[in-house]
Amino acid sequence: MEEYYWDTQLEYLRKTRDLYYNDDYLEFLVNNVWKITRPVHMIDYGCGYGYLGLKLLPLLPEGSKYTGVDKGEQLINQAKAYFQRLPYETEFIVADTNELELESKYDIAVCHAFLLHMSEPKRMLQRMVDSVVNGGKIICFEPHWISGMSSYELQGSAQSEIVPLGILQKLFETSVKESGMDGNIGAKIPGYLSELGLENIECRISDKVNFLNPDQAQQEKQRLYDSLKGDGIGGAPVNEEAFLERLIRRGVTSEGAKEQYEAELLFSQLFTIDSSFAYSPSMKITFGDIKRK
Ligand SMILES: C[S@@+](CC[C@H](N)C(=O)[O-])C[C@H]1O[C@@H](n2cnc3c(N)ncnc32)[C@H](O)[C@@H]1O
Repeated sequence: MEEYYWDTQLEYLRKTRDLYYNDDYLEFLVNNVWKITRPVHMIDYGCGYGYLGLKLLPLLPEGSKYTGVDKGEQLINQAKAYFQRLPYETEFIVADTNELELESKYDIAVCHAFLLHMSEPKRMLQRMVDSVVNGGKIICFEPHWISGMSSYELQGSAQSEIVPLGILQKLFETSVKESGMDGNIGAKIPGYLSELGLENIECRISDKVNFLNPDQAQQEKQRLYDSLKGDGIGGAPVNEEAFLERLIRRGVTSEGAKEQYEAELLFSQLFTIDSSFAYSPSMKITFGDIKRK
């Protein structure tokens, strides 16, 4: 039987999560923004290897519990292995969140880089809402690729030559129509939560700006460079003909497709471990309260 895709992506997940938030910012969110002062039971949809749990549990009041749900059995096994050494009460469920029936018993439902993979994200949000107690919270950490890509600053290059934003906008839009996958979903979640009747909706942005500094120690540079490459930054395009065909099929003009190919090629040639490069992923963190009448 073919292995489940995300079970093969553990290395990618482990390598790239550090690009998004500084720990002090997550602490600020827990204590100053969400003001979580009593123990909570948190459920993490599409938890992967338990990234959010590993980050948030140490910040939550003692006695807080974590339930992680994911379709990937290997990912859940890894999450269990990580948490086994930690003093938190946890539960892990291997399941498809489209089918899982849960009681409304959690205080907070969270997700990280999960809804972008849903063909019906609003339906999934409704399921998340349904699993939370009255007065509880939904917190979604989701990407907004176009703002992440608009932040690329590679010293010595004109941004428009390495990241043609107009073409990328078009590609992201057609990808939503074709596959339902929406890498810009982060910015849409405030609207979705409002349509679902949540209250006190707010949206923040991830704080981390990654700076690949040519003057940094080699080991630090290597770690960050590997994470950036792992996140797809500066990857070389392969097979020009197939690349152009794919983009044209997705609604880009032939000139646009060529421009995108040239831009990716140039970027991949210029972006090295010794580059001076700044990048802020600009994840959107949207949250709201559930107040049932
Ligand atoms: C980009 S990964 C993010 C994982 C984790 N939240 C993190 O940020 O490290 C997306 C995750 O969603 C999970 N996923 C996608 N569709 C799912 C579904 N229908 N049911 C359960 N999990 C799902 C995948 O297995 C994968 O672990």
